[in-house]
Amino acid sequence: MKRIKMGCTTLSIPAMALGIMRMNQKSVPEAQVAIQAAYDAGINFIDSADIYDGGKSEEIFGQAFSQMQIKREEMFIQSKTGIVPGKRYDFSKEHILHSVDEILERMQLDYLDSLVLHRPDALMDPEEVAEAFDQLQAAGKVRFFGVSNFDTAQFKLLQSCLSQRLMFNQLQFSLKHTGMIDFGMHMNMVDKPSVDRDSQFLDYARLHKVTVQAWSPFQYGMFEGTFIDNDGFPKLNQELQKLADKYEVGKNAIAAAWILRHPANIQMLVGSMNPQHIRDSAKGAKIRLTRQEWYDLYLAAGNYLP
Ligand SMILES: NC(=O)c1ccc[n+]([C@@H]2O[C@H](COP(=O)([O-])OP(=O)(O)OC[C@H]3O[C@@H](n4cnc5c(N)ncnc54)[C@H](OP(=O)(O)O)[C@@H]3O)[C@@H](O)[C@H]2O)c1
Repeated sequence: MKRIKMGCTTLSIPAMALGIMRMNQKSVPEAQVAIQAAYDAGINFIDSADIYDGGKSEEIFGQAFSQMQIKREEMFIQSKTGIVPGKRYDFSKEHILHSVDEILERMQLDYLDSLVLHRPDALMDPEEVAEAFDQLQAAGKVRFFGVSNFDTAQFKLLQSCLSQRLMFNQLQFSLKHTGMIDFGMHMNMVDKPSVDRDSQFLDYARLHKVTVQAWSPFQYGMFEGTFIDNDGFPKLNQELQKLADKYEVGKNAIAAAWILRHPANIQMLVGSMNPQHIRDSAKGAKIRLTRQEWYDLYLAAGNYLP
Protein backbone atom coordinates (compact mmCIF):
# COMPACT_ATOMS: atom_id res chain seq x y z
CA MET A 1 0.00 0.00 0.00
CA LYS A 2 1.24 3.45 -0.90
CA ARG A 3 2.04 5.41 2.26
CA ILE A 4 1.73 9.17 2.65
CA LYS A 5 2.87 11.64 5.31
CA MET A 6 0.15 12.55 7.79
CA GLY A 7 -0.45 16.30 7.66
CA CYS A 8 2.66 18.28 8.63
CA THR A 9 4.23 15.32 10.46
CA THR A 10 6.75 12.72 9.36
CA LEU A 11 4.41 9.92 10.43
CA SER A 12 3.31 7.69 7.60
CA ILE A 13 -0.26 6.58 7.02
CA PRO A 14 -1.76 4.46 4.22
CA ALA A 15 -3.16 6.29 1.19
CA MET A 16 -6.42 4.43 1.84
CA ALA A 17 -8.52 4.07 4.95
CA LEU A 18 -11.50 1.80 5.59
CA GLY A 19 -14.60 3.88 6.34
CA ILE A 20 -17.08 2.03 8.52
CA MET A 21 -20.21 4.11 7.84
CA ARG A 22 -21.84 1.00 6.36
CA MET A 23 -20.59 -1.52 8.93
CA ASN A 24 -23.99 -1.35 10.66
CA GLN A 25 -25.34 -3.58 7.85
CA LYS A 26 -22.88 -6.37 8.64
CA SER A 27 -22.64 -9.13 11.26
CA VAL A 28 -19.59 -9.20 13.52
CA PRO A 29 -17.91 -12.02 11.51
CA GLU A 30 -18.59 -10.14 8.25
CA ALA A 31 -17.11 -6.98 9.76
CA GLN A 32 -14.02 -8.99 10.74
CA VAL A 33 -13.64 -10.19 7.15
CA ALA A 34 -13.80 -6.59 5.88
CA ILE A 35 -11.32 -5.29 8.48
CA GLN A 36 -8.92 -8.19 7.81
CA ALA A 37 -9.15 -7.73 4.02
CA ALA A 38 -8.29 -4.06 4.44
CA TYR A 39 -5.47 -4.74 6.90
CA ASP A 40 -3.95 -7.47 4.72
CA ALA A 41 -3.96 -5.01 1.81
CA GLY A 42 -2.04 -2.48 3.92
CA ILE A 43 -5.06 -0.40 4.92
CA ASN A 44 -4.36 -0.07 8.64
CA PHE A 45 -6.48 3.04 9.11
CA ILE A 46 -10.15 3.16 10.15
CA ASP A 47 -12.51 6.11 9.73
CA SER A 48 -15.73 6.22 11.71
CA ALA A 49 -18.22 8.74 13.13
CA ASP A 50 -20.36 8.71 16.24
CA ILE A 51 -23.55 9.10 14.18
CA TYR A 52 -23.25 6.08 11.89
CA ASP A 53 -26.59 4.40 12.52
CA GLY A 54 -26.74 5.92 15.98
CA GLY A 55 -23.46 4.27 16.95
CA LYS A 56 -24.26 0.78 15.62
CA SER A 57 -21.36 0.79 13.16
CA GLU A 58 -18.96 1.56 16.02
CA GLU A 59 -20.49 -1.12 18.23
CA ILE A 60 -20.02 -3.74 15.53
CA PHE A 61 -16.50 -2.53 14.89
CA GLY A 62 -15.73 -2.75 18.63
CA GLN A 63 -17.05 -6.28 18.90
CA ALA A 64 -15.25 -7.34 15.73
CA PHE A 65 -11.88 -5.67 16.29
CA SER A 66 -11.56 -6.64 19.95
CA GLN A 67 -11.62 -10.32 18.96
CA MET A 68 -9.09 -10.00 16.13
CA GLN A 69 -5.36 -10.68 16.19
CA ILE A 70 -4.46 -7.20 14.92
CA LYS A 71 -2.67 -5.22 17.64
CA ARG A 72 -4.33 -1.94 18.64
CA GLU A 73 -1.20 0.09 17.89
CA GLU A 74 -1.02 -1.37 14.39
CA MET A 75 -4.33 0.23 13.45
CA PHE A 76 -4.84 4.00 13.23
CA ILE A 77 -8.42 4.55 14.42
CA GLN A 78 -10.25 7.79 13.77
CA SER A 79 -13.81 8.87 14.54
CA LYS A 80 -15.85 12.01 14.09
CA THR A 81 -18.13 14.07 16.29
CA GLY A 82 -20.17 17.28 16.10
CA ILE A 83 -23.45 16.25 14.45
CA VAL A 84 -26.58 15.58 16.46
CA PRO A 85 -28.68 14.11 13.62
CA GLY A 86 -31.71 16.14 12.60
CA LYS A 87 -31.22 18.50 15.55
CA ARG A 88 -28.08 20.56 15.43
CA TYR A 89 -24.36 20.69 14.84
CA ASP A 90 -22.62 20.82 18.19
CA PHE A 91 -18.97 21.77 18.78
CA SER A 92 -19.54 22.60 22.44
CA LYS A 93 -16.87 21.34 24.80
CA GLU A 94 -19.46 19.34 26.70
CA HIS A 95 -20.69 17.58 23.55
CA ILE A 96 -17.21 16.83 22.22
CA LEU A 97 -15.98 15.37 25.52
CA HIS A 98 -19.11 13.31 26.08
CA SER A 99 -19.13 12.05 22.50
CA VAL A 100 -15.51 10.83 22.72
CA ASP A 101 -16.26 8.86 25.89
CA GLU A 102 -19.17 7.19 24.12
CA ILE A 103 -17.11 6.46 21.00
CA LEU A 104 -14.36 4.83 23.08
CA GLU A 105 -16.91 2.69 24.88
CA ARG A 106 -18.67 1.57 21.69
CA MET A 107 -15.42 0.87 19.84
CA GLN A 108 -13.91 -0.82 22.94
CA LEU A 109 -10.83 1.39 22.83
CA ASP A 110 -8.69 3.29 25.35
CA TYR A 111 -7.84 6.05 22.90
CA LEU A 112 -8.55 7.37 19.41
CA ASP A 113 -5.67 8.11 17.09
CA SER A 114 -7.63 10.97 15.61
CA LEU A 115 -10.81 12.91 16.28
CA VAL A 116 -12.41 14.85 13.44
CA LEU A 117 -15.14 17.52 13.66
CA HIS A 118 -17.76 16.26 11.22
CA ARG A 119 -19.44 19.32 9.68
CA PRO A 120 -19.04 23.03 10.52
CA ASP A 121 -21.14 24.27 13.44
CA ALA A 122 -22.34 27.86 12.82
CA LEU A 123 -22.03 28.42 16.58
CA MET A 124 -18.42 27.19 16.73
CA ASP A 125 -16.38 28.94 19.38
CA PRO A 126 -12.79 28.00 18.49
CA GLU A 127 -11.52 28.65 22.01
CA GLU A 128 -14.06 26.24 23.44
CA VAL A 129 -13.05 23.60 20.89
CA ALA A 130 -9.41 24.23 21.84
CA GLU A 131 -10.20 23.53 25.50
CA ALA A 132 -11.91 20.28 24.57
CA PHE A 133 -8.98 19.17 22.37
CA ASP A 134 -6.42 20.03 25.08
CA GLN A 135 -8.38 18.11 27.68
CA LEU A 136 -8.77 15.07 25.43
CA GLN A 137 -5.08 15.04 24.56
CA ALA A 138 -3.96 15.52 28.17
CA ALA A 139 -6.20 12.65 29.25
CA GLY A 140 -4.61 10.41 26.60
CA LYS A 141 -7.96 9.91 24.89
CA VAL A 142 -7.09 11.44 21.50
CA ARG A 143 -3.68 11.76 19.79
CA PHE A 144 -4.43 13.94 16.73
CA PHE A 145 -7.23 16.15 15.45
CA GLY A 146 -8.84 17.09 12.17
CA VAL A 147 -11.98 18.50 10.59
CA SER A 148 -14.40 17.55 7.87
CA ASN A 149 -16.29 19.59 5.27
CA PHE A 150 -14.55 22.78 6.46
CA ASP A 151 -13.83 25.63 4.08
CA THR A 152 -10.46 27.36 4.16
CA ALA A 153 -11.51 30.27 6.37
CA GLN A 154 -13.23 27.99 8.87
CA PHE A 155 -10.13 25.83 8.95
CA LYS A 156 -7.82 28.82 9.54
CA LEU A 157 -10.11 30.26 12.21
CA LEU A 158 -10.15 27.06 14.23
CA GLN A 159 -6.44 26.42 13.69
CA SER A 160 -5.59 29.90 15.00
CA CYS A 161 -6.89 28.94 18.47
CA LEU A 162 -5.52 25.41 18.77
CA SER A 163 -2.31 24.24 20.38
CA GLN A 164 -2.30 21.23 18.03
CA ARG A 165 -1.93 21.34 14.24
CA LEU A 166 -5.02 20.06 12.41
CA MET A 167 -4.00 17.00 10.39
CA PHE A 168 -7.04 16.32 8.21
CA ASN A 169 -9.94 17.84 6.32
CA GLN A 170 -12.42 15.29 4.97
CA LEU A 171 -14.06 16.37 1.71
CA GLN A 172 -16.15 14.59 -0.90
CA PHE A 173 -14.04 13.74 -3.95
CA SER A 174 -14.47 11.14 -6.66
CA LEU A 175 -14.73 10.81 -10.43
CA LYS A 176 -18.36 11.93 -10.04
CA HIS A 177 -17.67 14.70 -7.53
CA THR A 178 -14.88 16.87 -8.85
CA GLY A 179 -15.79 20.38 -7.67
CA MET A 180 -12.52 20.65 -5.77
CA ILE A 181 -10.55 20.69 -9.04
CA ASP A 182 -13.05 21.85 -11.72
CA PHE A 183 -12.92 25.56 -10.96
CA GLY A 184 -9.14 25.64 -11.20
CA MET A 185 -9.30 24.52 -14.82
CA HIS A 186 -12.19 26.93 -15.57
CA MET A 187 -10.42 29.89 -13.97
CA ASN A 188 -11.59 33.32 -15.13
CA MET A 189 -14.60 31.93 -16.98
CA VAL A 190 -18.32 32.37 -16.37
CA ASP A 191 -19.51 28.80 -16.91
CA LYS A 192 -20.84 26.53 -14.13
CA PRO A 193 -17.61 24.63 -13.36
CA SER A 194 -15.79 27.94 -12.81
CA VAL A 195 -17.62 28.42 -9.51
CA ASP A 196 -15.36 27.65 -6.56
CA ARG A 197 -17.49 25.99 -3.90
CA ASP A 198 -14.48 24.57 -2.08
CA SER A 199 -12.59 27.80 -1.24
CA GLN A 200 -9.43 26.44 -2.90
CA PHE A 201 -8.95 24.08 0.00
CA LEU A 202 -6.91 21.59 -1.99
CA ASP A 203 -4.27 24.22 -2.78
CA TYR A 204 -4.36 25.42 0.82
CA ALA A 205 -3.85 21.84 2.00
CA ARG A 206 -0.80 21.44 -0.24
CA LEU A 207 0.70 24.73 0.91
CA HIS A 208 0.11 24.10 4.62
CA LYS A 209 0.52 20.33 4.73
CA VAL A 210 -2.95 19.17 5.61
CA THR A 211 -4.07 15.70 4.54
CA VAL A 212 -7.29 15.78 2.53
CA GLN A 213 -9.37 12.65 3.11
CA ALA A 214 -11.67 11.88 0.16
CA TRP A 215 -15.03 10.52 1.25
CA SER A 216 -17.42 8.45 -0.91
CA PRO A 217 -14.82 7.71 -3.61
CA PHE A 218 -17.12 5.42 -5.64
CA GLN A 219 -20.39 7.31 -5.23
CA TYR A 220 -22.32 9.85 -7.28
CA GLY A 221 -24.49 12.55 -5.69
CA MET A 222 -24.41 12.63 -1.94
CA PHE A 223 -23.79 8.90 -1.63
CA GLU A 224 -26.80 8.05 -3.82
CA GLY A 225 -25.18 4.90 -5.17
CA THR A 226 -22.03 3.74 -6.84
CA PHE A 227 -21.22 4.81 -10.39
CA ILE A 228 -19.33 1.55 -10.88
CA ASP A 229 -21.24 -0.84 -13.18
CA ASN A 230 -24.10 1.65 -13.09
CA ASP A 231 -26.04 1.89 -16.40
CA GLY A 232 -26.55 5.59 -15.75
CA PHE A 233 -22.86 6.23 -16.50
CA PRO A 234 -22.05 4.22 -19.67
CA LYS A 235 -19.12 6.35 -20.93
CA LEU A 236 -17.39 6.37 -17.57
CA ASN A 237 -17.82 2.62 -17.16
CA GLN A 238 -16.48 2.01 -20.66
CA GLU A 239 -13.34 4.02 -19.84
CA LEU A 240 -12.97 2.36 -16.43
CA GLN A 241 -13.25 -1.07 -18.07
CA LYS A 242 -10.70 -0.21 -20.75
CA LEU A 243 -8.13 0.74 -18.12
CA ALA A 244 -9.11 -2.13 -15.83
CA ASP A 245 -8.30 -4.49 -18.72
CA LYS A 246 -5.01 -2.71 -19.41
CA TYR A 247 -3.85 -2.84 -15.77
CA GLU A 248 -5.47 -6.26 -15.09
CA VAL A 249 -7.52 -5.05 -12.14
CA GLY A 250 -11.18 -4.23 -11.48
CA LYS A 251 -12.93 -0.89 -11.91
CA ASN A 252 -12.61 0.04 -8.22
CA ALA A 253 -8.84 0.01 -8.63
CA ILE A 254 -9.00 2.43 -11.57
CA ALA A 255 -11.43 4.79 -9.81
CA ALA A 256 -9.10 4.72 -6.80
CA ALA A 257 -5.99 5.25 -8.93
CA TRP A 258 -7.68 8.32 -10.40
CA ILE A 259 -8.03 9.91 -6.94
CA LEU A 260 -4.54 8.94 -5.81
CA ARG A 261 -2.96 10.26 -9.04
CA HIS A 262 -3.62 13.81 -7.83
CA PRO A 263 -0.33 15.15 -6.44
CA ALA A 264 -1.94 16.45 -3.22
CA ASN A 265 -1.35 13.03 -1.58
CA ILE A 266 -5.02 12.57 -0.83
CA GLN A 267 -6.05 9.78 1.52
CA MET A 268 -9.07 7.92 0.18
CA LEU A 269 -11.80 6.53 2.47
CA VAL A 270 -13.01 3.22 1.04
CA GLY A 271 -16.54 2.50 2.25
CA SER A 272 -16.98 -1.00 0.83
CA MET A 273 -17.65 -3.88 3.20
CA ASN A 274 -17.09 -6.44 0.45
CA PRO A 275 -13.59 -7.99 0.72
CA GLN A 276 -13.26 -8.31 -3.06
CA HIS A 277 -14.06 -4.65 -3.61
CA ILE A 278 -11.69 -3.68 -0.78
CA ARG A 279 -8.85 -5.75 -2.27
CA ASP A 280 -9.49 -4.37 -5.75
CA SER A 281 -9.60 -0.78 -4.46
CA ALA A 282 -6.24 -1.33 -2.76
CA LYS A 283 -4.71 -2.40 -6.07
CA GLY A 284 -5.40 1.14 -7.29
CA ALA A 285 -2.63 2.42 -5.03
CA LYS A 286 -0.08 0.54 -7.15
CA ILE A 287 -1.23 2.10 -10.43
CA ARG A 288 0.06 5.42 -11.68
CA LEU A 289 -2.27 6.54 -14.46
CA THR A 290 -0.74 8.49 -17.33
CA ARG A 291 -1.82 12.11 -17.65
CA GLN A 292 -3.95 11.22 -20.68
CA GLU A 293 -5.63 8.32 -18.86
CA TRP A 294 -6.41 10.60 -15.93
CA TYR A 295 -7.94 13.25 -18.22
CA ASP A 296 -9.79 10.60 -20.28
CA LEU A 297 -11.52 9.41 -17.09
CA TYR A 298 -12.28 12.98 -16.02
CA LEU A 299 -13.93 13.68 -19.38
CA ALA A 300 -15.74 10.32 -19.47
CA ALA A 301 -17.27 11.22 -16.11
CA GLY A 302 -19.12 14.06 -17.86
CA ASN A 303 -16.71 16.95 -17.35
CA TYR A 304 -15.33 19.21 -20.08
CA LEU A 305 -12.26 21.35 -20.53
CA PRO A 306 -12.44 24.95 -21.74
N1 LIG B 1 -17.07 13.38 6.35
C1 LIG B 1 -18.22 13.13 5.79
O1 LIG B 1 -19.12 13.98 5.74
C2 LIG B 1 -18.45 11.77 5.21
C3 LIG B 1 -19.61 11.51 4.45
C4 LIG B 1 -19.77 10.23 3.92
C5 LIG B 1 -18.82 9.24 4.13
N2 LIG B 1 -17.73 9.52 4.90
C6 LIG B 1 -16.68 8.49 5.11
O2 LIG B 1 -16.29 7.96 3.86
C7 LIG B 1 -16.40 6.54 3.90
C8 LIG B 1 -16.72 6.02 2.55
O3 LIG B 1 -18.00 6.50 2.12
P1 LIG B 1 -18.94 5.60 1.21
O4 LIG B 1 -19.24 4.33 1.89
O5 LIG B 1 -20.06 6.43 0.73
O6 LIG B 1 -17.89 5.35 0.01
P2 LIG B 1 -17.76 4.42 -1.24
O7 LIG B 1 -16.61 3.53 -1.00
O8 LIG B 1 -17.70 5.36 -2.38
O9 LIG B 1 -19.10 3.60 -1.36
C9 LIG B 1 -19.27 2.34 -0.75
C10 LIG B 1 -20.55 1.73 -1.30
O10 LIG B 1 -20.40 1.52 -2.70
C11 LIG B 1 -20.57 0.14 -2.97
N3 LIG B 1 -19.62 -0.30 -3.99
C12 LIG B 1 -18.29 -0.02 -4.07
N4 LIG B 1 -17.75 -0.63 -5.15
C13 LIG B 1 -18.76 -1.31 -5.75
C14 LIG B 1 -18.83 -2.14 -6.90
N5 LIG B 1 -17.78 -2.40 -7.67
N6 LIG B 1 -20.04 -2.69 -7.23
C15 LIG B 1 -21.13 -2.44 -6.46
N7 LIG B 1 -21.12 -1.69 -5.35
C16 LIG B 1 -19.95 -1.11 -5.01
C17 LIG B 1 -20.28 -0.57 -1.67
O11 LIG B 1 -20.92 -1.83 -1.66
P3 LIG B 1 -20.07 -3.12 -1.15
O12 LIG B 1 -19.96 -2.99 0.32
O13 LIG B 1 -20.94 -4.26 -1.60
O14 LIG B 1 -18.76 -3.09 -1.86
C18 LIG B 1 -20.86 0.39 -0.66
O15 LIG B 1 -22.27 0.24 -0.57
C19 LIG B 1 -17.48 6.28 4.96
O16 LIG B 1 -17.41 4.96 5.48
C20 LIG B 1 -17.12 7.33 5.98
O17 LIG B 1 -16.06 6.85 6.76
C21 LIG B 1 -17.52 10.77 5.42
